[in-house]
Amino acid sequence: MTPEELAALIRSRRSSLLIDAQREVSRSLVEELLALVTWAPNHKRTWPWRLAVLTGETRRMLGESIADVMAAQGDDPPKVEKTRTKYLRSPIVVAVGAAPGDSPERTAENRYAVAAGVQNMLLAAHANGLAALWGSPMRGANAAINDVCGFAPDTEVLGLVYLGWPTGVVENPGRPAPDINWL
Ligand SMILES: Cc1cc2nc3c(=O)[nH]c(=O)nc-3n(C[C@H](O)[C@H](O)[C@H](O)COP(=O)(O)O)c2cc1C
Repeated sequence: MTPEELAALIRSRRSSLLIDAQREVSRSLVEELLALVTWAPNHKRTWPWRLAVLTGETRRMLGESIADVMAAQGDDPPKVEKTRTKYLRSPIVVAVGAAPGDSPERTAENRYAVAAGVQNMLLAAHANGLAALWGSPMRGANAAINDVCGFAPDTEVLGLVYLGWPTGVVENPGRPAPDINWL
């Protein structure tokens, strides 16, 4: 791959929920994408990523579990109901968590490493022709997600990533140029 091709890949990746919920993604492809998460830079090599792949009915379980938390904390009822089936919108949902470190600084570094790993996954998904979207976990639902996903209770859930084959193309709105202080 040339530098130009890499730049084009990065620029053309879009967050997209235009996903065929019925069309399966092979387990081997998902495994390939998840293996790339681990190639992110990671201070002290703590390997902080925690990953769970939700398919089939487990996606509904995740939604129900999060919706129950939202209902208990008094969230907007239509939003709660929508959440119950939210994760059925793609055939694969990858839950991504970060393990804590042995100090607040290391915990932050772990979080950054996992976020960098998610971008690896998103770019690789795009390179394979998949659509993906990094969704934030619902407020208050960290413990419920850890429980469904089999993560340790101190895991910080950074995202629920929808993955699947695209049904359409998301427009590229462009980006402002970075504001750089050259010193
Ligand atoms: C930490 C993080 C959380 C995000 N959470 C959501 C989300 O909850 N819902 C959503 O639609 N998009 C979410 N996104 C995707 C962003 O909205 C998206 O990246 C942004 O609109 C820019 O679009 P692009 O990814 O196509 O460049 C999230 C992105 C990041 C990095």
